[in-house]
Parts: sequence; structure tokens; C-alpha cells
Amino acid sequence: MPRLQMRSLVLTASVAAAVCALAVVGLVGQTNALGPAVHQVDAFGPGPQGPPRARTLAEFIRRYDSSSCKKCHAKIYAQWEKSHHATPLIGYKGDLFIAKHVPVTDPSRATLKTYPCFKCHLPHIKNASRAVIVEIARAFKAKDKATLKKLGITCIVCHHDLAVVHTRPEPNVLYGNQNLGEHEHPVFKRIVKSPILKDPVQCGQCHGQGPNLEFTPPVQCGTLYGSYLHAYVPSGGTRTCQDCHMPRGDHSFPPNFTRPASVSARLKKSVSLDVRVLAYRSQVLTPGRPYPLVVVRATITSRAGHRIPDG
Ligand code: HEC
Ligand code: HEC
Ligand code: HEC
Ligand code: HEC
Ligand code: HEC
Repeated sequence: MPRLQMRSLVLTASVAAAVCALAVVGLVGQTNALGPAVHQVDAFGPGPQGPPRARTLAEFIRRYDSSSCKKCHAKIYAQWEKSHHATPLIGYKGDLFIAKHVPVTDPSRATLKTYPCFKCHLPHIKNASRAVIVEIARAFKAKDKATLKKLGITCIVCHHDLAVVHTRPEPNVLYGNQNLGEHEHPVFKRIVKSPILKDPVQCGQCHGQGPNLEFTPPVQCGTLYGSYLHAYVPSGGTRTCQDCHMPRGDHSFPPNFTRPASVSARLKKSVSLDVRVLAYRSQVLTPGRPYPLVVVRATITSRAGHRIPDG
């Protein structure tokens, strides 16, 4: 029942956010040096979450840079840094896979629409002006991995931008598991309890519900939350994404597909394969040439919270 309530809460939130997005277009268009023509508020849902859109890539990177958290949250930082959340534009194999899916070759023509993958691989881009997208497109073209590595799903993305429902995140506030009050950080001076940080919907904001049909052609990535909601929960599953993927607040978010040994070890624990031989005999289809016939029953049991593989 609490989960049902949460779902209707989120639905109302997205309606409210869409209304807010329309309200900010005019304002932001006027403040940018490139003029309103280069702005778009499109299929990406809510507009800027409060502060004006970042005008340059350097400003955008600085706004979401989480290196200042390292000094006090060293363990969590080290775990996050090795996770794929830290480098969502680079790819497991070090390839710049997103560049292959962009319909324009001239970076100056890049817009949010030409980068549908950013919806989840770089969702905070909606707080940047189009000039920033053009700069990112140039970095992709130049295969400038050093710059692209600075564009991650950082601490601030999850603990500020994507930690609230119904309202925009408050300026200078980070959201945690409890109301801690004062926080010793020059920008994020307070810690407030997030209503969703322990709920699967926090992850569902990017781990998606199904094919992204708002794009042409549709994008089939990030569909796992749909499987969790529509298969795991109705069949009685009670664990959250955080229970299974963040034990004791672990920010390395296993499995990590660049470490196959750990993936195999985890799969061994959660997916069992039971094979039984039911019958064995020789089958004679052509006289004098018997074929062996084995009837096998294989049962695969998954204890995961969704289809696997899924993404
Ligand atoms: C000067 C030290 C310092 C810096 C810098 C700092 N923090 Fe904290 N933070 C703390 C302390 C101390 C606490 C309270 C104890 C705890 O939970 O670790 C805290 C608590 C938190 C919490 C709430 C934890 C909970 O229990 O729910 C979050 C979230 C958080 N910090 C995130 C960040 C992020 C993100 C950054 C970087 C933008 C950051 N902190 C930078 C010291 C710091
Ligand atoms: C609805 C959100 C969403 C959209 C849109 C999206 N992705 Fe993803 N993508 C994810 C999530 C979440 C993962 C991690 C899930 C996993 O690994 O199973 C992922 C993983 C991947 C991976 C495997 C990880 C890696 O680093 O190699 C690739 C490749 C990928 N996405 C490419 C794309 C491309 C290309 C686009 C745009 C055409 C795109 N995605 C659009 C959410 C999305
Ligand atoms: C992909 C989203 C995501 C990112 C990125 C992320 N966090 Fe978290 N963080 C969470 C969630 C979700 C929880 C709550 C987990 C739980 O309690 O089960 C959490 C919990 C915490 C806590 C409280 C831990 C505790 O033991 O109660 C701190 C502190 C924290 N994060 C700091 C950080 C810092 C610092 C970074 C960057 C290095 C970071 N987080 C990056 C999602 C994220
Ligand atoms: C801001 C969007 C976003 C949020 C929020 C988010 N993820 Fe992800 N997650 C991604 C993307 C994008 C990838 C794939 C990164 C890449 O391309 O390598 C990913 C990858 C992963 C992976 C695969 C790690 C690996 O090494 O392959 C796991 C597991 C994961 N996320 C779990 C979670 C959980 C659990 C939560 C909620 C606490 C969460 N994520 C919240 C976007 C997000
Ligand atoms: C009951 C435990 C459980 C729950 C709940 C759960 N997962 Fe998983 N998840 C697994 C297992 C087991 C795997 C297989 C790999 C492994 O062993 O980690 C997996 C794999 C993944 C992967 C890698 C994709 C792939 O194809 O292997 C991602 C990403 C992921 N989960 C994210 C999530 C998110 C986001 C949620 C919540 C919406 C969630 N998981 C809920 C257990 C769980």
C-alpha cells in the first residue's frame, strides 16, 4: 500500500513539473547571451530546477562537480568513483557509444533532441543552455575523454536534483536519509530528509519503465524499473533496489560489468539452474541408425528483482 501511494504521488509530481517547465521558458530565454532562439524545452520534461541554466560547459561541470565531497565522505566517494554512475558517457568498453547515435555530424547543430540518450545518461543537462550541448558535441567529435569523464551522475545529481517529489529541490540543500540540519559545505549548507532516497522510484527516474517512445526512432534503453514494478512487486517481492544494490549504503552499485568475476559470483548466488535428465533412450528414425534421445528439464530460478538481463 505505501508503494501504491508513492506511485500516485510521482504521477502528480510530473504533471506539476510539466506546468512549471512552461512557465520558465520565457524567463530563461531572455537571460542567455545566445538569445531565446537557441533554447528549447522539449521531450525532456521539467525545465530548469531553479537556478538559471549553465551557459558554458565549464560552468555546468563546476555546478555538479562533487570532488569537494571526497574529503569528508572518502569511502563513499571512492566507491562511487569506480561505479559506472561516475562515467555514463564513456561506456563499459571505453567507447563513446552515445556519439554513434547522434543524427547530426556538425556539433553546432546539436540540440537536446539530437541527444535522446542524455535523458538518463546525463539528466541534469536540462539545467544547461544549448551552448553547453554544442560544447559536449564538440568534445564527442574530438574524442576528448578527459572532458567527457567530468560529466557524470554525481553526488549532487542524486542528492539534490533527483531526491524530491512534488517540489523543486531547495537551493543550498542536499537530501539524505534524515533531517540533519547544518552541513559543513560552502554551497550545500543543510541536509534535509529526502522522501524518496530509500524508495525504488529514486532509481526509476533513470532506470526507466519501458521503451522511450517519445523519441523518433524510439530508444530501447533503461527499462528495468518497469520490470520491477510490473513483475517483481505484483508477485510479492518486497525488497527495494537499494536493499539489493546498495547494501550498507554501498555506492559502488554492483554488479559492475567491467569486473566479470564479481558479476559471476553474484549471479551464482541469485540465479540457480537445476537440470534433470528425465529419460534417455535410442531413437531409431532410419533402420540401422539409432539416434540418442535425451529428455532434459531445466529450471532457472531467479531471485533478482526484475528480468535479467535487462537494462
Ligand atoms: C567538511 C566535511 C563535509 C563535506 C565537505 C561534505 N560533507 Fe556531507 N556530511 C558531513 C557530515 C559530518 C555529515 C553527517 C554525518 C554523516 O552522515 O556522515 C554529512 C552528511 C551528509 C549526508 C546525509 C547522510 C545521511 O545520514 O542521510 C549527505 C547525503 C551528504 N553529507 C552528502 C554530501 C555531498 C554530496 C557532499 C559534496 C557536495 C558533502 N556531503 C560534503 C560532512 C561533510
Ligand atoms: C530511460 C533512460 C535511458 C535512456 C533514454 C538511455 N539509456 Fe542507456 N542506460 C540506461 C541505464 C539505467 C543503464 C544501465 C542499466 C544496465 O546497465 O543494465 C544504461 C546502459 C547503457 C549502456 C550499457 C552501459 C555501457 O556503459 O556500455 C549503453 C551502451 C547505453 N545505455 C547506451 C544508450 C544510448 C546509445 C542511448 C541513446 C540512444 C541510451 N542509452 C539511452 C538508461 C537509459
Ligand atoms: C545514483 C544515485 C546516487 C549517487 C550518484 C550518490 N548517492 Fe549517496 N545515496 C543514494 C541513495 C539512494 C542513498 C540511500 C541508500 C540507503 O540508505 O539505502 C544514499 C545514501 C548516502 C549517504 C548516507 C549513507 C548512510 O549510511 O546512511 C551519504 C552520506 C551519501 N549517500 C553520500 C553520497 C556522496 C558523497 C556521493 C558522491 C560521491 C553520493 N552519495 C552519490 C544515492 C546516490
Ligand atoms: C541519474 C540517472 C540514474 C539514477 C538516479 C540511478 N541510475 Fe543507475 N545507472 C544510470 C546509468 C546511465 C547507468 C549506466 C552507466 C553507463 O553507461 O556505464 C547506470 C548503471 C547502474 C548499474 C550498473 C552498474 C554497472 O557497473 O554496470 C546499477 C546496478 C545501477 N545503476 C543501480 C542503480 C540504483 C540501485 C539506483 C537507485 C539507488 C540508481 N542506479 C539510480 C543512471 C542512473
Ligand atoms: C531482490 C534483489 C533485487 C532487487 C529488488 C533489484 N535488483 Fe537489480 N539485480 C539483482 C540481481 C541478482 C542482478 C543480476 C546481477 C547481480 O547479481 O547483481 C541485478 C542486476 C541489475 C542490473 C544490471 C542489469 C543486468 O542486465 O544484469 C541493474 C542495472 C540493476 N539490477 C538495477 C536495479 C534497479 C534500478 C532496481 C530497482 C528498480 C533493482 N535492480 C532491483 C537483484 C535485485
